Amino acid sequence: MFAQSARDTDFPSLAKKAYLNSAAEGIPPRVVTDALAQYAQDKLRGMDGRQRHEVHWKEAKAQVAKAYNLSADEVGICSCSSEAYNLAALAMRLREGDEVVINDLDFPAGATPWLQPTCPAKVKVWRSREGALRVEDLVPLLGPRTRLLTVSLVSFFNGYKIPLPGVIDAVRNHSDALLALDVTQALGRIPLDLAGVDLIVSSTHKWILATHGGGLVGVPAARAREWTVPAGGWFHLQNAFENDRFERAVSKPGAASFTVGMPNYPAVYAINAALRYIHSIGVPAIDSHARPLVRACLDGLKKLPVELITPDEPDAIAGIMAFRHPDAERIHHALREKNIHVMSHAGRLRVAIHGYNTSDDVERFLDVLHNEL
Ligand SMILES: Cc1ncc(COP(=O)(O)O)c(C=O)c1O
Repeated sequence: MFAQSARDTDFPSLAKKAYLNSAAEGIPPRVVTDALAQYAQDKLRGMDGRQRHEVHWKEAKAQVAKAYNLSADEVGICSCSSEAYNLAALAMRLREGDEVVINDLDFPAGATPWLQPTCPAKVKVWRSREGALRVEDLVPLLGPRTRLLTVSLVSFFNGYKIPLPGVIDAVRNHSDALLALDVTQALGRIPLDLAGVDLIVSSTHKWILATHGGGLVGVPAARAREWTVPAGGWFHLQNAFENDRFERAVSKPGAASFTVGMPNYPAVYAINAALRYIHSIGVPAIDSHARPLVRACLDGLKKLPVELITPDEPDAIAGIMAFRHPDAERIHHALREKNIHVMSHAGRLRVAIHGYNTSDDVERFLDVLHNEL
């Protein structure tokens, strides 16, 4: 994706590293570290800095809107995906008899608010088969009591990408449920078509190459009533400083209700710069560059004595692959010795390929594996 010179200038820390771990932490380009420095300068102005913070806030929201293909009024920014889901749970006002469908490939952020003892809804688990979530296994879990299906577009665990149009059809045809989609492992890496999704959530420290401390929320205008958060706070309230403020709290509708307090401005500066950077290159260009590297990596892994836990289905692959091996820790160690970074966690090794990766990164990774196995 990046010309070698741009890669050297924008990502100097990648000079000798084969960094295959963007599904855990993306590497911010120089414009993002510059934006953080700018935040520090603006903060030094005290209250006068707020006008500048607000400019970045507006611009960041416009960038998120572009990424989600929504309007700026349809996006909000909170502090992490987990916060977004807990606020969403508040907005749902679930009752005894309601049902929520989660799945066994998901990251805990979107799956666990409904598992707390205070949640009155019954939770059903959409279980994967051989690493894949099949629509035919979802359908029997849906019905008149289903209020929510919560799922990631791309699984943090094995990289499986759900067939979104089929999932949306199943939800619409078999229930009146809302569909909440976590795009953390997809945003900035693969082109997205999120039409028909009721709530979109993403963290900001992975593929979009920003920092920690952001939760990007998308609520289409037609769903603003369903996703209006009845939380305490002020930034999201219509009447926070009105005369009636000690009599009632009135939330702004939809996405705006997900920012309950002062925005995390350092993260907001970073999100603005990072998404501008991603959009200046173009997600389709990133995908066209990285997709053949993913293919080469998968083909290489398939020749090795490892247990691949990512289904090899072209439409179900984004940027992540994962595999198991009894000696995973030793392999991880050997890779790190050679400055090759992958994730070793939750019983598997996970490889993530972004636009700044090169065929050399993949070859170095496969060579070490070949020698170690
Ligand atoms: C799919 C997914 N959602 C969310 C998160 C992170 O959630 P939070 O922003 O609450 O830390 C991760 C990984 O850390 C993830 O893989």
